[in-house]
Amino acid sequence: MPFEDDRAVGCPVGDIRDGDFVASALLGPGGPVAGVAHLAAIPAPGQVSEEETLDQNVLGSYVVLHQAGRLGVRRAVAASSISAFGLAWADRDLSPRYVPVDEDHPTMAVDCYGLSKVLAEEVAAFSTRRWGLGTVCLRFPFVGTGDRLARQLARVHEDSGGHRRDLWAWLDTRDAARAVLAGLTAPLGGHHVISVSADDTSALEPTEELLRAHHPDSPLTRRLPAHSAVYDNTRAREILGFRPHHPWRGEQPPHVG
Ligand SMILES: NC(=O)c1ccc[n+]([C@@H]2O[C@H](COP(=O)([O-])OP(=O)(O)OC[C@H]3O[C@@H](n4cnc5c(N)ncnc54)[C@H](O)[C@@H]3O)[C@@H](O)[C@H]2O)c1
Repeated sequence: MPFEDDRAVGCPVGDIRDGDFVASALLGPGGPVAGVAHLAAIPAPGQVSEEETLDQNVLGSYVVLHQAGRLGVRRAVAASSISAFGLAWADRDLSPRYVPVDEDHPTMAVDCYGLSKVLAEEVAAFSTRRWGLGTVCLRFPFVGTGDRLARQLARVHEDSGGHRRDLWAWLDTRDAARAVLAGLTAPLGGHHVISVSADDTSALEPTEELLRAHHPDSPLTRRLPAHSAVYDNTRAREILGFRPHHPWRGEQPPHVG
């Protein structure tokens, strides 16, 4: 999509699976850009065929990160997803092996969108090994703000059980943008997979009550008091120095638009 912002110095439009296009977009007049935020993807299952989802998300990631590495770009941040854990879009009820769910939790993906994110993370690890490109894959949950967030909160509050697969995770869009910036600027090298969610859930019920009701066989490795998030944010704090700034609790009741 064309992008209009006065601060933009350029807005090349093309397909990220086209290496020549991507290379020209990453090369400024003075040489390669310092960093790339790779967000382009099919962002959910069911929008196109499974084959197309894998093609866009995995080949697209390969081309972007390959060209970035080849040209000497220093850092790439890629939007991954909690779907890489496999619960969110599964066609069956799955429960985490343990909670809170950290990045060492194995994938349980049985859907092609989740698989595409797992494979895109592997592509990032490969690009780090091959080119020395610093790569940060951010596993986002539902991301929204304003009316989009209000609608999501209303859905969760009406039927929290219906959201047992996303583990009631959410993140304000402004915080997602801050996490991308942190991924581009934090002093680090190598390859990192990092979950980034709000520190609380989107649900009204306390977290341990939700887990007892909907994931009774998932053992707790530590207590999750009050409305603590089920996805572990330790790595985001320690590696990126990231903490969300935009809570929904304690703000005005959401307006559903
Ligand atoms: N929105 C969420 O709640 C959420 C949650 C977790 C992860 N993510 C991830 O965040 C990223 C952004 O998601 P979004 O919700 O903004 O999606 P979106 O659909 O609004 O934006 C994705 C953009 O990628 C573009 N695109 C897709 N394939 C392309 C290709 N081959 N070449 C060039 N452009 C292409 C689309 O045209 C679109 O503009 C995605 O990687 C998605 O998987 C989003």
